Amino acid sequence: MMKVVSLVGARPQFIKEAVVNNAVRQQNAWQHILVHSGQHYDFNMSGAFFEELGIPKPDHYLGVGSGSHAAQTADALIKFEDVLRSEKPDLVMVYGDTNTTLAGALDAAKLHIPIAHIEAGPRTYNKLFPEEVNRVLTDHISDYLFACTELNVQNLAKEGIVKGVYNTGDVMYDLYLKMQPKLNPEAEMEHFGLKHNGYVLATIHRDFNTDSKERFESVLKGLNTIAKTQNVKVLYPMHPRARKTAKQFGLSDLLKDLIITEPVGYLELMSLLQECRFGVTDSGGFQRECYWAKKRAMLLMPQGWQEITDTGWHLLENDVTTLNWEEKTTELLQEMPYPGSIFGKGNAAEKIVREIQANAL
Ligand code: UD1
Ligand code: UDP
Repeated sequence: MMKVVSLVGARPQFIKEAVVNNAVRQQNAWQHILVHSGQHYDFNMSGAFFEELGIPKPDHYLGVGSGSHAAQTADALIKFEDVLRSEKPDLVMVYGDTNTTLAGALDAAKLHIPIAHIEAGPRTYNKLFPEEVNRVLTDHISDYLFACTELNVQNLAKEGIVKGVYNTGDVMYDLYLKMQPKLNPEAEMEHFGLKHNGYVLATIHRDFNTDSKERFESVLKGLNTIAKTQNVKVLYPMHPRARKTAKQFGLSDLLKDLIITEPVGYLELMSLLQECRFGVTDSGGFQRECYWAKKRAMLLMPQGWQEITDTGWHLLENDVTTLNWEEKTTELLQEMPYPGSIFGKGNAAEKIVREIQANAL
């Protein structure tokens, strides 16, 4: 039986692994060895997802933790190499665009082990995003490139990558659909004292927003403006990176009129998403989830998923220091027809497993 080593380490990767892992187990497709780099380690950034999404306990935990890009990537690189040398897999699976992804792909390439990259092909063409560097490099050394959309396939082709490319749709969309029966918006709203359509859901954690005092202050002031001018609550589950810098920059006063919580679980977040008025985010995953829930969002970033922003459904607002938040919110609240399905049919994980089985044996 073929052996696959799957490497995860950060919150978005647990979510993607949950779906693929389930498909592998259901089809008894191969021996699946799960490795956790330890890039994310707080219970609400890691363990909670394993519990609620039923992901099996990792076979190896590398304990990489936090650090500079170099320190984090290098530690994962060294420790994951040991795992590959002992496990001797037929294939390595990596997800998305984190430092864990790059380390895993680089190790596998140097040991001549074929690589499957899930979520291959998104491009911002902006190297200021560490994620752009990670995904471009990973794509160029991968053997199987599983893309979420047709545009991602085209992006790869522009860089000469055509072999091993499959447009499977997005595994996160699979999970979103699969988890619908488990959502409980009423209970979650009650927990936070919220009412249907009476709140905005914010997730803001990316380095370009939270590591600059000027930008982060503008973003938090913007959230306060939204709360006041729209007479809504703003619920902001805060990533530990954002919580730390808000404190360090002395911005705590700007949090007191918002509902601030620790990061919430996947089912909680998806439940809350169903009944919110709109989203405010810089998350790659959450902007897609907003789209699937037919909620519009303000994206506080230079580029988002172009497939969505091109339709005008989400508004791309990078100039957070000069943004007229009231005007933008009014624009966002205008009715518009839903542009329709972009991220596949909800069977991406099955397709990935099938393609690997058909080609890698
Ligand atoms: C990483 C990804 C980013 C993704 C995000 C998802 C890279 C380059 N970036 O960013 O693409 O959007 O994960 O959530 O890989 N921290 C804790 N506890 C934790 C994890 C992090 O306190 O469990 C704090 C530490 O202070 C750490 C900081 O958050 O230094 C940043 O964590 P890190 O993993 O370096 O990057 P993310 O911002 O999470
Ligand atoms: N998420 C969650 N709770 C939170 C914030 C995020 O469950 O408090 C989930 C959500 O499904 C999101 C995913 O984690 O799509 C990825 O998160 P994140 O925004 O951290 O990473 P990115 O998608 O930007 O890489």
